[in-house]
Amino acid sequence: MPVSTATIAVPEPARYLGSLVSRLEPDATVEQAGDGRVTVTFERGACVLTPAFGLDVIAAAPDPSALAGVRDALGRHLSEPIAWTEPVAGADMRITDPAVDDYLLRHCSGTDPLLDELIVATREAAGPSAGMQISADEGALLTMLTQMTNARFAVEVGVFTGYSSIRIARGLAPDGRLLACDVSDEWTSIARRYWQRADVADRIDLRIGPAIQTLRALPAEPAIDFAFVDADKLSYPAYYEEIVPRLRPGGLIVLDNVFLGGRVLDPACTEDHHQAMRRLNDRVTADERVDSVMLPLRDGVTLARKRP
Ligand SMILES: C[S@@+](CC[C@H](N)C(=O)[O-])C[C@H]1O[C@@H](n2cnc3c(N)ncnc32)[C@H](O)[C@@H]1O
Repeated sequence: MPVSTATIAVPEPARYLGSLVSRLEPDATVEQAGDGRVTVTFERGACVLTPAFGLDVIAAAPDPSALAGVRDALGRHLSEPIAWTEPVAGADMRITDPAVDDYLLRHCSGTDPLLDELIVATREAAGPSAGMQISADEGALLTMLTQMTNARFAVEVGVFTGYSSIRIARGLAPDGRLLACDVSDEWTSIARRYWQRADVADRIDLRIGPAIQTLRALPAEPAIDFAFVDADKLSYPAYYEEIVPRLRPGGLIVLDNVFLGGRVLDPACTEDHHQAMRRLNDRVTADERVDSVMLPLRDGVTLARKRP
């Protein structure tokens, strides 16, 4: 589903949007949200208009010709031409600009020569699969969140070569432990070597096997302070439903890759794991057991904190 965006430079975007809406209403269905955003649905697609520094516009339609129709339909109600971005579909969407990503990497704490070596060793061992490893800025976030929850019992689903485990283990309370779940002996043999060298091996219990079985075998009482989920995407809803009841009040679950490279935004992406992640994102937002926020860090990170 192609999307294109534009910003219309106007001095008073909210007032401008108000008068634009009254001009649009005869030709389209207009829905106004409480925060001032307006969704305009034409026959072939829709636009979301947000008053910000200018008037931000997102146009989306099922195919390129319908998108062109939506852009034209909106343009007919404006006196100046709109500078639209080239249409992109979900799978090609960049969550953040690579230059911004690079800047973030240069401005996070907690990196050290051992973690840098693990990044390089993972690239050499795993080739393109090395992209599964979390980034240094996400690692800094994990250490900070583990510390902030004062975690004594943490759970990780998806270890790979151990980078995120080290970042979590370094944030644990002095007597804290990390239960680390993965199915791969091959990748976790690298993890075990680096845990030894990072001096965190004695805090980590590695369980090899399907994570859902490991989670279901945990006691039912709420004892988990911190959980990080970064494994097979189709199983995220099941991991979430096993972990949330076991979180202590104030405990945190962190879900990685919740944007699936932009595919969750695109209804044309209909593989099982796309649908599962889309449903989970809606479920978390509506879940009265937690307060949640999605961060546009790398491929999207959800933080959900169990309500007291
Ligand atoms: C994205 S990687 C984890 C990356 C890791 N968090 C890091 O920062 O290096 C996903 C991992 O999940 C593991 N995995 C896949 N399916 C699994 C399952 N059903 N149960 C447990 N682990 C699984 C894979 O073996 C892989 O190591």
